[in-house]
Amino acid sequence: MVQPTASGNGPQGILPAIDTRTRLYGVIGAPVGHSLSPAMHNAALQAMGCNAVYLAFHTTDPAGALAGMRALGMGGLSVTIPHKVSVMAHLDEMDPLARRIGAVNTVVPREGRLFGYNTDCFGALAALKERVDPAGKQVALLGAGGAARAVGFGLVDAAARVTLFNRNAQRGRALAQALGIEWLPLEELARHRADILINTTSVGMHPDTGRMPVPADCLRSGMVVMDIVYNPLETRLLREARAAGCEVVDGVAMFVHQGARQLALWTGRRPPVEIMRRTVLACLT
Ligand code: ATR
Repeated sequence: MVQPTASGNGPQGILPAIDTRTRLYGVIGAPVGHSLSPAMHNAALQAMGCNAVYLAFHTTDPAGALAGMRALGMGGLSVTIPHKVSVMAHLDEMDPLARRIGAVNTVVPREGRLFGYNTDCFGALAALKERVDPAGKQVALLGAGGAARAVGFGLVDAAARVTLFNRNAQRGRALAQALGIEWLPLEELARHRADILINTTSVGMHPDTGRMPVPADCLRSGMVVMDIVYNPLETRLLREARAAGCEVVDGVAMFVHQGARQLALWTGRRPPVEIMRRTVLACLT
């Protein structure tokens, strides 16, 4: 008899009983080899008692993947880089927030139709709200890529007073205009009195772990500093922020909450957030 190995079966190490009623979920992207979504979602699905498995699919063909999802009756899909924008053309309906953000990371099947959602936005706000309610707070948002766009719409909707800081002026101005907020060059950050600082750039991510997106003198005691980078778990930005007396929110919090929102959309049930967090942390440490 072939025994499942721990390395091939995630940190939980237990395969569900697979039969003809097992629901299939997954993530599409390129690459997906390092995705933590399968470990996180399988741990959650098992804890919820769902007869389901979640797999990673490396594909450069999002249209084909969605056709396959329809044909096979899959329970749901996560969508990651580089398909978050291109996948939209192959959906039947878009959630209004995902439409405003212009990116989809979650596909939900309902009565034969495919609906697109963006749970990155929800994930970022849920992670931040574990520490602070951003309503009325001065927020410095760093970056102007897809992640900044998702987080920015969430912050604006939550009535935060957001200023966008980005290295590239053209990209910074364009996103600030779409969000209806002000853009400033990164060099202005030290003069800006932010209550909350959120890094959405990739600066500090493995393997460049010695870098941080802002000088340490921008970090003041009492600030809440959030980094969406989760590899390493404690980025240099978060380490320096903690040393300066700031409260910190790591990237795992956002990752876990965006995944929990996906599961809630797929199953209509409350996901086990702490089990998901523990599973991701076990993969990272
Ligand atoms: P994503 O879609 O994941 O947000 P992206 O579109 O590549 O990724 O955006 C990355 C963001 O990180 C951009 O805002 C980029 O700044 P520019 O618009 O100036 O290119 C920012 N970024 C990346 N490396 C940076 C660095 N070394 N210093 C400052 N900002 C950086």
